Parts: sequence; C-alpha cells; structure tokens
Amino acid sequence: MTVESNITDTLTGPRVELSGAAARVHFGAGRGHADFHYRWLRHWCDRERHPLTRERTLDSSEVADEVFPLEASVEGEALRVRWSPDGHESEYPLAWLDAHAYARDRAAAPPPSSELAAVELSSVGAAEPATVALALALVHDRGVAVLRRSDPSRVAPETETDAIIDALEAHGLRVISTHFGRIEDLRTDNTTNANTDQLGYTDAAIQLHTDQPFLEHPPRYQLLQGVRSADEGGANFLVDARAAARYLRDIDRASFELLTRTPVTFHRRQKSFERVVVSPMIQRVDEDDFLVRYSYFTLAPYRLPFEDMDAWYRAVDRFARLVRDPRHQIQLSLRPGEWLLYDNHRMLHARTAFRGPRWVRGLYFDRG
Ligand SMILES: [Fe+2]
Repeated sequence: MTVESNITDTLTGPRVELSGAAARVHFGAGRGHADFHYRWLRHWCDRERHPLTRERTLDSSEVADEVFPLEASVEGEALRVRWSPDGHESEYPLAWLDAHAYARDRAAAPPPSSELAAVELSSVGAAEPATVALALALVHDRGVAVLRRSDPSRVAPETETDAIIDALEAHGLRVISTHFGRIEDLRTDNTTNANTDQLGYTDAAIQLHTDQPFLEHPPRYQLLQGVRSADEGGANFLVDARAAARYLRDIDRASFELLTRTPVTFHRRQKSFERVVVSPMIQRVDEDDFLVRYSYFTLAPYRLPFEDMDAWYRAVDRFARLVRDPRHQIQLSLRPGEWLLYDNHRMLHARTAFRGPRWVRGLYFDRG
C-alpha cells in the first residue's frame, strides 16, 4: 500500500510510519527499524492485563479483523497508538518492541506504481521511429507506454493505424490476428469484427483483466489507439500485476504461493468461438517474473478440494483488492490519435463505462 508517512520526530530520531497492514518503527539513529502487523500490535497491547495479577486478558480472536490505527506517534521512548474500531489506546516501550521485533530491517517490496507521468511520451505524429523505440523501452521497464500527441492529429486517427503497425514491426514486433480479426474496432456499433458478443463492444465498465487468458500463449502486447472520445466516461486504467504479485509475496507469501500453484480454468465461450485453458493465475516464468492470466469474465467456476476453497478465496480476493485499489492504478484517458501499448503478460487493464460514440482500436502483437 502507499505509505502514509506519519513522521513524528526528526528523521534521525525514533518515529513510526504506517502502511497497508503494518507499522514501521524506526528506533532512532543507527538503531534500524522493524515492521509490526497492526493485528500483532493490538493483540500484544500491554494494557490488556488484569490489574492485580498482570496476566494477559486478550485473545487474538477478540481483535476486530479490520483493526487499524487512527493515530500513531512516538513520544519519548514509547509508541502510542489509538485504534479503530474500538478507540482503544495502547502504549509500547521502544525497548519492548526492539526485544520482540520479528521483522527487523526488512526491505519491503513497493506496491504497484500509479505514476502516469513516468510512462507518458510526447510525440509529433503517431509513429515517429524514435518515439516508438522509447515506447518499447518503457514497456520493457514499466509494462506500459502512453503516447501523447503534441500535434493533435490532423488526419482521421484510423488512417494512422497501419503506420503504427509498420513502426512497431520495424522494431521487432509482429501484429497478430485473433478471433476478433486483425484490427479490433472497440465501439458499440461495430461492423468490422468477428465474434463481437463480448463486453469490449458494449459501453459497459470492464474491470481489470488480461486479454485472451484462454489461449495457450496469450498475445504478449496490446495496443489501444484512441480514435473518437466518449461524451462521458470511457477512461482507461492499468495495474502492474507483476509488481502486485511481488508485493503480495512480500506481505502474504501463502496467498502468493496459492496463486502460483492453483490451476483454474479460463473458458471463453462465444456464439462462434470456444477455448479452454487450465493454468495458475500467476504462472512463474522465473523466480521473479510471471505470466499473469486474470479475467473474471472468462473464469469457469472454481473446482478445488472442499477444504482448500476458503484459503483460495482469501488469496485470490486479497490479490483482487490490491489491484482494485485506485492508489495502485495508472489512470488516463486517450484522446483521438493517442495510443498506449502494454505487456499483456504483466499489466492488467480496464475501462470505465461510457456514453457516446467512443471508438478505440485494439491490436495484438507478439515478438517477431
Ligand atoms: Fe481487454
């Protein structure tokens, strides 16, 4: 999660930072830091003791699942926390936290970036070779590139599509056809594509997904070209699912392992098309890289051993909540003549509902 800094002392003094599910306590200059889950801190509150015997009175099952600090600060040599939802106040001597630290000097994986400016390129023209090369470098590094026009397109954007294909093919990509055709016209009055009985050709919202997870080899890259804007809505958003997977591994290894090991069935059934693939959602390419398949609208009902279903839902829903958190999303609107290109094995994409004549062209590419 995005760190909400709560710096209560000078940068070299003791302080606390709060993030999604944990507090990071800095013990002061040269003394390092340690991370503590909110649940752990609330459970081990030293004030939850019998006043005479000093025995502990709280069992962890009595702590609310959604426990969260309303306020946290280091005052003198103690961490003070006021908790939601019960308003309880706790105080932890830093020496006690130091002695019981279970995650000392941990290097936390960052959550997925929401920084649009870091993936935008400004361009004169839709397919300048130098800009296309920069876009491919950005896709390699950050998963996505957004080409902004410094010269609003003077021609109909749809006449520039072939020049964009040529420019990408000159850099080693190869446009590929799918069961929709070679160029997809994503518009509600589509007449140019096959198999248009799917959400992309409606004006409905489409939540985060990867494309074509039901193919043995999903297309590696997708390009979306803005041709005509909607009257209202129709924004795009993307999430770096590789970063989300690394982040999940860092905060909840069991859930991450379940997502990499549990086979699920992707089943695309349209009037004239049907494909099935069985695969984990997060397929390891190597230790730190993954092929992500993620698509709530082409999933077949889960079939897992009864005793595994609860744990599976916890894992898959935790991943979903991570990527559906707007703080982890790159959000943008494509103007006519602009395009974005992303790695469909790494990035999830989505769009908001819209009204009006929105027209976006979709193209798939693989490496040549
Ligand atoms: Fe899609």
